[in-house]
Amino acid sequence: MARNSSQGGRRVEVAPNPGFLWGASTSSFQIEGAAHLHGRGDSIWDTFCRQPGRVKNGDSGEVACDHYHHFAEDVALMHDLGLGAYRFSISWPRVLPSGRGAANEPGLSFYDRLIDALLAKGIEPWICLYHWDLPQALEELGGWQNRDIVGWFADYAALVGRRYGERVKRFATFNEPCVFTLFGYGFGWNAPGIAEKAALHRAIHHVNLSHGTAIDTLRASVRDASLGAIHNRQPCFPCSASADDAIAAQHFAEYWNDAFPHPQHFGCYTHALAESIEPYQRPGDMAQIARRVDWFGLNHYSPHYIKADPNLVGATFGAPPDDVPRTAIGWPIVPGAFRDTLLDIDRRFRLPIYVLENGTAASDDIDPTGQVQDTSRIAYLRAYIDAMGEAILKGADVRGYFVWSLLDNFEWTSGYSQRFGLVYVDYLIQKRIPKASARWYSDHIAASRISKAPASEAAPPNKIAAKR
Ligand code: FCB
Repeated sequence: MARNSSQGGRRVEVAPNPGFLWGASTSSFQIEGAAHLHGRGDSIWDTFCRQPGRVKNGDSGEVACDHYHHFAEDVALMHDLGLGAYRFSISWPRVLPSGRGAANEPGLSFYDRLIDALLAKGIEPWICLYHWDLPQALEELGGWQNRDIVGWFADYAALVGRRYGERVKRFATFNEPCVFTLFGYGFGWNAPGIAEKAALHRAIHHVNLSHGTAIDTLRASVRDASLGAIHNRQPCFPCSASADDAIAAQHFAEYWNDAFPHPQHFGCYTHALAESIEPYQRPGDMAQIARRVDWFGLNHYSPHYIKADPNLVGATFGAPPDDVPRTAIGWPIVPGAFRDTLLDIDRRFRLPIYVLENGTAASDDIDPTGQVQDTSRIAYLRAYIDAMGEAILKGADVRGYFVWSLLDNFEWTSGYSQRFGLVYVDYLIQKRIPKASARWYSDHIAASRISKAPASEAAPPNKIAAKR
């Protein structure tokens, strides 16, 4: 039932309301499998998984949830849940095995089938172009460190836009650029496993340039496109009262929260980054980065607690205070930080917000009756969705919420040891079992009387006036 509230003359609708978009998210490498079928090339994650000790239990994306073969069943599950939208990513090496040059028709047609299946069930497809699986062939040419990638990414965006743009209107350029640059090129924890200051700063700048250029490409190739990027954003609290930790937290926040949204929206880097990126910048770059987008995509799980460290950003993750509750994998549960983040984004960026990832890992087991009673996930989702409702009530323009994730899947360096799904996956026999949280989410959506948000983000004139 829609409720209205008046905030300083600005009328807002509070979730649940009929226009609010409820969805779930996944990504190509984490679920598809079929890693070497029908012409798909290697991605940096295939290579990384082969390196001993990189991924827990030596797991890989070779089979994952075999979504490549089970997509129809997975779409039927989404329909049963009542999802209004599904966010997935395209595997760049599935459609362009070498990252550039000849396209791979069987790879392209897999996404045709997926999109058609979604549309047939009334589920809006949201495509993310890049969820970390860079073609290995491009990494061998320097990957995100090579400025030529801006053109390669634009060509890839054009291919995707032209192929699917009649049926899909929602496109995101990147998922969590701060994570894949920092972890992949700065700390060396994720693929491609590089830990070098110059590599990190080059990658940050080239990803930003690729974002802006791809936005132009998508606008040119997709009629009525609704575009954005997906950023991870959360408060970075110092772990202790020491001055060192306070400085570290601030510095870390620059990389985590600002390295991408700031230049993409305001056309400049923040203080420390500006100096480090200057050597890789050319005239005109900042204007090319700061292209108009239609919405702000947010991924949020918990706040960070940061401590000083001698690493290349002078900061790393520390422990949260003892009284902060945590999830099964130790991530702090602080719904108030989610509410505050939404309000902060609303104030800073003045764009409709879509929460494109939120959720939790839990120790999910199948009980003797064949059910998965993931009560801790239900409690987490309820608390976070309530916090989002509070932000909306206070005026944040939040238009949709997507759970991470539809299915249990390959959780990067944790392999299959962490389960984030609403749906349990028995990887041995590829059986799907909707968990109690799936039923809870489905009931929640039904109670909200789901309907699709319009593809255009244009707000009524009175709302624009109130926001400026
Ligand atoms: C996010 C990633 C996503 C998944 C969740 C748990 O950082 O975007 O792929 O790993 O965390």
